[in-house]
Amino acid sequence: MSAILLVINGMDPRPWQERFGALAPQRDIRLWDGSTGEQAGGSFADVAYACVWLPPAGLLARFPNLRAIFSLGAGVDHILSDPALPDVPVVRIVDPDLTMRMTEYVVLHVLMHHRGQRRYDAQQRERYWYEHPQPPASHVSVGVMGLGMLGRGAAPVLRCIGFQVAGWSRMPKKLPGIATFHGTQGLEEFLRRTEILVCLLPATPVTRGILNLDLFRRLKRDGPLGGAYLINAGRGVLQVDADILTALDEGALAGATLDVFPTEPLPATSPLWTHPKVTITPHCAAASDSGPLVANILRQIERFEAGLPLEGVADRAAGY
Ligand code: NDP
Ligand code: OXD
Repeated sequence: MSAILLVINGMDPRPWQERFGALAPQRDIRLWDGSTGEQAGGSFADVAYACVWLPPAGLLARFPNLRAIFSLGAGVDHILSDPALPDVPVVRIVDPDLTMRMTEYVVLHVLMHHRGQRRYDAQQRERYWYEHPQPPASHVSVGVMGLGMLGRGAAPVLRCIGFQVAGWSRMPKKLPGIATFHGTQGLEEFLRRTEILVCLLPATPVTRGILNLDLFRRLKRDGPLGGAYLINAGRGVLQVDADILTALDEGALAGATLDVFPTEPLPATSPLWTHPKVTITPHCAAASDSGPLVANILRQIERFEAGLPLEGVADRAAGY
């Protein structure tokens, strides 16, 4: 009994399987084979825990004694979208390793836009030596959409660098040194003061398509950077790609960093690939590293089996 099943698509399952085997040699660890639709060894009734990334819809309902589902990332949209999802807790990753990786990415790209690095890259290609005026960080306002584990990790570090930092969430929040806004009523003021918009929202029925032309046009364009910038490392379905291109062309956006896309991998035909104001990364802002994350999941399972509550359980009604 109490087998742990790994259902992993879109990333290499082997490091996860090896890490589970190394840290929990006493446990029955099984890997779902997507090509045969089989699991290695034993009956479906043995499976108590599923650790998943992009599981096929309907699969998890086939394990009658499932007690909890663990996402191998912070997002749970790939699980909650299953119409046949069994009624067991769905747990997302909350781990300092993942949070720090996202903070690194956010800081890197905020600074890249703030310091106009793309412009210097272009100058280097032309062997052109020219220094542009550089506003101090303290004159530039960054807005972080989503003040969850990841937003609350990145925002104070941006503040430490000197940026004016604001955050937007669903429910009210108080964070030292950060101006906070929430809900639809707080969105207008949050956008009006934001020059660099960092999106760390989850994909939910409410947030889908939120990064659209209407929103980009409400960002602050007359700040010291001379335009507004978008960094989306949340989920691709939050953004409308065509609206990003329109916003860049009409000047509502001066540049964008995109880590996530409605279709991944980003199709080779997408004009985003070659747009001079767009920086693209392949959904790698905060990679899930099996090293710390398997230890995290095993700790949770031990707590759960000792009768303690699971941490980071998704709220199905809210969708994250
Ligand atoms: P959390 O669940 O901890 O936080 C989500 C935040 O979004 C909360 O602050 C929440 O508000 C806010 N939010 C949700 N819905 C709304 C809404 N309708 N309006 C305003 N705010 C809203 O998630 P994490 O911080 O751990 O992760 C965020 C997302 O980052 C993940 O869901 C995933 O999609 C993405 N991600 C991307 C990665 C990458 O490599 N690109 C890696 C890891 C995660 P409230 O605080 O009020 O609940
Ligand atoms: C995650 C991701 O949700 O990597 O953790 O996208």
